[in-house]
Amino acid sequence: MTGQRLKGKRALVTAAGQGIGRASALAMAAEGAQVFATDINMDALSTIRDTNHENIEIFELNALDDTSVKEGVARAQPDVLFNCAGFVHHGSVLDATDDEWEFAMNLNVRSMLRTIRATLPGMLERGQGSIINMSSACSSVIGAPNRFIYGTTKAAVIGLTKSVAVDYVAKGIRCNAICPGTVESPSWHDRVDALGAQLGSKEQAMTQFVSRQPMGRVATAEEIAALVVYLASDESGFTTGHPHIIDGGWSGQ
Ligand SMILES: NC(=O)c1ccc[n+]([C@@H]2O[C@H](COP(=O)([O-])OP(=O)(O)OC[C@H]3O[C@@H](n4cnc5c(N)ncnc54)[C@H](O)[C@@H]3O)[C@@H](O)[C@H]2O)c1
Repeated sequence: MTGQRLKGKRALVTAAGQGIGRASALAMAAEGAQVFATDINMDALSTIRDTNHENIEIFELNALDDTSVKEGVARAQPDVLFNCAGFVHHGSVLDATDDEWEFAMNLNVRSMLRTIRATLPGMLERGQGSIINMSSACSSVIGAPNRFIYGTTKAAVIGLTKSVAVDYVAKGIRCNAICPGTVESPSWHDRVDALGAQLGSKEQAMTQFVSRQPMGRVATAEEIAALVVYLASDESGFTTGHPHIIDGGWSGQ
């Protein structure tokens, strides 16, 4: 079914090659947006061509690289920016290395400085814009075991989101964060495999991941994409500066 909830909007998505970014790019295209789906993995990204959405353009954008971000933003001139790129490190504070910390801060947080700094002037000129930042339920919302670096970076995303929102609230720009619980995606399957190797079987790892979700299942990427579409659309015109929790009841207990 094709809708028109995002007709006339141009949407730039980082990390659209797989998982939530890909599902969100497809969902926004299905709602009529002109979507610019980007990633560093062009093999994954190019499969979007098979989905027959004429209104999706793909190109390489490395969220760690300022020049790549500036060029991508100049090409897309987005009304909607979905900052989805991020990485999950495993471990507690005593496991964290400086390199892991630097990498996660760079990809999970500083990438948003790059993209927002490049995107905002155009949005301000046009007098409208919706910025959606990928945080997590594991952030300032809740702590999760062995997610020290990850939870720290995703909490920073919420602070970044609120700061941008408050500075531009009267200028037509909205900035929100989304905070999913566990979502089925290629990298999640990698994390299940890694934990399975420690525990002795993938089934045990799967049980551990699923058991922390009160609904007894993890989310689909499409369920998160539906929230992205809402925040991208004018239906959410009165919400800004908030972490939108979508975690199957994980933090609601
Ligand atoms: N899967 C979950 O359980 C879950 C839960 C909450 C939040 N998140 C967040 O959602 C986002 C997407 O995660 P996912 O699990 O859906 O996808 P994923 O981790 O399977 O895929 C990540 C994508 O990011 C791309 N990428 C990596 N480095 C990049 C860079 N420098 N520039 C641009 N793209 C880059 C990869 O090529 C890949 O296509 C992440 O920020 C993650 O932290 C995921």
